[in-house]
Amino acid sequence: MAQSLRPDFEVLEDLDALSHEAARYVMLSAREAVICTGRCTIALAGGETPRRLYELLGSEDYRGAVPWDEIDWFWGDERCVPPDDPRSNYRLAHETMLERAGVSPSRVHRMSGETRPPSRAARSYEALVRDIVPDQTFDLVILGVGADGHTASLFPGHAALEERERLVVAVTADKGREVPKRITMTFPLLDRARSLLVLAAGASKRGVVHAVRSDPTAAAIRYPVARLRPAGHLTWLLDRAAAQ
Ligand code: 6PG
Repeated sequence: MAQSLRPDFEVLEDLDALSHEAARYVMLSAREAVICTGRCTIALAGGETPRRLYELLGSEDYRGAVPWDEIDWFWGDERCVPPDDPRSNYRLAHETMLERAGVSPSRVHRMSGETRPPSRAARSYEALVRDIVPDQTFDLVILGVGADGHTASLFPGHAALEERERLVVAVTADKGREVPKRITMTFPLLDRARSLLVLAAGASKRGVVHAVRSDPTAAAIRYPVARLRPAGHLTWLLDRAAAQ
């Protein structure tokens, strides 16, 4: 049964407090999944907001509390750049968290941003997800949100918002985007997750946060993130600047 329209919202003082709460959420979700199934699948967000979260998880504070050896890591979206490109979502998580935690490369499943055409990378990533994620149901998906309400690389007005069959697609965002060519999970895959965690920090996210909190149905017309209807839990972690 789809999640009720109203997600859980938690407001933290600032990005650091939000990142600590998110790290606790990731740690507890992973430990619960491993206790229940012996493994855990997590899809990571890109952009800047999760940087501090990843740094924390890779730090002395949290590293010992995460069951790294039982977690398979994925990405919700990727820019079509090589993995060592400073704009790569893979590179962000690798250098701040996965490398520091000594995660085995066999557990790290990045989208191939360097593959051309991107549609080929999308198809092979979907095949990978179908192959190694039981029932294509992630234990946890971490997402950011843009000021325009995009999440992953699902942008307002884009045909990918209407995709109901494919689980991963290639998209071309507006020219003004940082790296317009992207690979992204679609709503059919995101909504299968047991838990979705949306991180929103900063005043630029205030408009979309207010819209989603006040009228999620109306917000879904304008903001892709408001269309998330996971079968499991949907939790937003906000800082004060985004929540005012
Ligand atoms: C990306 C992300 C994207 C991001 C939002 C928010 O590849 O850019 O997947 O969806 O989460 O754009 O970005 P910030 O966290 O930098 O505000």
